[in-house]
Amino acid sequence: MKSDMEKILISEEEIQKKVQELGEILSEEYKDKNPLLVGVLKGALPFMADLIKAMEIYLEIDFMDVSSYGNETTSSGEVKILKDLDTNVEGRHVLFVEDIIDTGRTLAYLKDMFKYRKAASVKIVTLLDKPSGRAVDMTVDWIGFEVPHEFVVGYGLDFAERYRNLPYIGVLKPEIYQ
Ligand code: PRP
Ligand code: MN
Ligand code: MG
Repeated sequence: MKSDMEKILISEEEIQKKVQELGEILSEEYKDKNPLLVGVLKGALPFMADLIKAMEIYLEIDFMDVSSYGNETTSSGEVKILKDLDTNVEGRHVLFVEDIIDTGRTLAYLKDMFKYRKAASVKIVTLLDKPSGRAVDMTVDWIGFEVPHEFVVGYGLDFAERYRNLPYIGVLKPEIYQ
């Protein structure tokens, strides 16, 4: 699989160091708040798994699965909920965990939805941020790394469902996706 990569953008060591740092910051932020960490399937899985192990506080986890409605050109930002939470979020401190924020539509929608559901707070931690892709104005509270306008895979991020299991973030060779 490494032979499918044009380059490695972020190494396994760099990711793990960053996850530890974020875990410490978030532990401080959320101690005594019993936060509910919500992973957005499927991409968030590796980051979520490593992040919660780096947090030494009481916390709970849950997952959502969503998909974008219609095509890329819709500006409504509406997302379809494929799997909702099993937890009532009223009064809870919710922390969304994402692998990447691109247009921002997924999280902008979920954030609004959770405010409507009366969560006490709704914040976002993402391993990667692609600011060049942003289509809606959205505050991201904690970001691991900024990535350039390239198609990145690994550590949860897929191309046609593959490469999620790579421990690093890389860019595919053009012949792989053409
Ligand atoms: C990707 C990624 C984020 C979302 C970000 O998920 O994991 O969840 O897109 O894009 P946005 O900021 O433009 O909304 P995807 O829908 O590909 O599903 P997956 O996680 O199952 O791969
Ligand atoms: Mn995703
Ligand atoms: Mg995907």
